[in-house]
Amino acid sequence: MNQKELIARLNWFYSLEINQVDLYKAQSNAVEDDIYLAKTLSRVAVIEQQHVDNMAEAIKMLGVEPIKLGDVISPLVGKTAGMITGLAGPKLMLKANITLEEKAMRDYKDLIIRIGNIEHLFNVLWDNLIDEDLHTAWFANKLKELESHS
Ligand SMILES: [Fe+2]
Ligand SMILES: [Fe+2]
Repeated sequence: MNQKELIARLNWFYSLEINQVDLYKAQSNAVEDDIYLAKTLSRVAVIEQQHVDNMAEAIKMLGVEPIKLGDVISPLVGKTAGMITGLAGPKLMLKANITLEEKAMRDYKDLIIRIGNIEHLFNVLWDNLIDEDLHTAWFANKLKELESHS
């Protein structure tokens, strides 16, 4: 992978992570009646902000400034705004989140395999991948719990 393609991919992650910070904060406000879910989404948003920061740092280490692309979430989940913001209920929201986290995981894995020996990048991509895996597991577990009550 050449430098230009690598930077393009990192900018995509950078943008995705920014979008996720905003999304999970909005969701946290939308599900206030379930305090555990609201608090978890708020905490996950903090972790996504760490990903924004570590992606920005990784891009700068390649000698360029990060560039925020537009909305990268809507094309991925293909859901209406109501579903993803939590207004259509927590189950649809969690399903959309799982789709999003799984896409991020696939792409982090793919990039890890392809970057080879860029050590600072290798470690940061692994860190983010594992966090996304933990988010996915929590969302899936919460979804199962909600489905068992309905
Ligand atoms: Fe993330
Ligand atoms: Fe995540």
